[in-house]
Amino acid sequence: MSYKTEKIWLDGKFVNWDDAKVHVLVHGLHYGSGVFEGIRCYKTCKGSAIFRLKEHLERFYNSAKIYFMKIPYSIDELKDVIVNLIKLNNLEECYIRPIAFRGLGGFSLDPRNNSVHVAVAVWPWGEYLGEGVREKGVRCTISSWIRVQNNMIPMMAKATGQYINSILACTEAHLKGFDEAIMLDSRGFVSEGSGENIFMVKNKTIFTPPTNASILLGITRDSVIQIAKDMGLKVIERDISKEELFLADELFFTGTAAEITPIVEVDHRPIGDGKVGPITKSLQQKFFDIIRGYDNNYSDWLYFI
Ligand SMILES: Cc1ncc(COP(=O)(O)O)c(C=O)c1O
Repeated sequence: MSYKTEKIWLDGKFVNWDDAKVHVLVHGLHYGSGVFEGIRCYKTCKGSAIFRLKEHLERFYNSAKIYFMKIPYSIDELKDVIVNLIKLNNLEECYIRPIAFRGLGGFSLDPRNNSVHVAVAVWPWGEYLGEGVREKGVRCTISSWIRVQNNMIPMMAKATGQYINSILACTEAHLKGFDEAIMLDSRGFVSEGSGENIFMVKNKTIFTPPTNASILLGITRDSVIQIAKDMGLKVIERDISKEELFLADELFFTGTAAEITPIVEVDHRPIGDGKVGPITKSLQQKFFDIIRGYDNNYSDWLYFI
């Protein structure tokens, strides 16, 4: 198993990977009552550094707040846990998965009296959407599954249960022979990928769906918006229609797992000339310079361990 490491942190203790277990009757398993994060630690030219750790942990606590979950550790305590866990597992570069979930305490759908468990795991993880996709891009389909709407489940929280919607879309895309799904919102506008935000380039301007399109407010999305603006590019957050996708000059996904992944085809229509476009390439280049520690203008995005 590629994600098997030495240690996992669970409820205050570093335990062996094989011992990081929970009971089958925990609330989170039955009803998806958990919140989680996905963070990356990169090997930079100055040592290992975690990308935008503060923002990820803030989102973790905000997700928990929405669901009345009190995480019994401070942000600083969890920062130390993450750093120590990476060191204990001797990893220079890894994906970091903090999770908080409701434990035993009954099966009421008001789980405020159930216990809250917190765990952190780290493991090496390469390109999320497949090997070589940074250079060659991915082929996508527009999902028959609609993104869960903000007023059904708050999409700004990263809760475990809501990912069942992404699981349907991603599995459907794979069964149809595509690499990833693009989901529309309940109004028919573009929302996001099953686990990534989406950007469109048209006439050298960059567009991305706004928060009311039921998106997760991605930290990579925020980073790319800032980088693009600093590069002098115009970035507009507005609704995008399905046909605009087909006629885009360039499309790409952003996400902690997906980083910046070009989209070269949507439902058998090549995007632009079907190759990775120049603006996507220059954003990728800048992003990788930043995460590798070569660009001092963004050094506050790196938390050295
Ligand atoms: C549904 C969804 N959208 C977008 C993203 C991208 O968010 P971030 O850049 O913060 O990883 C993710 C990944 O966490 C996600 O699961």
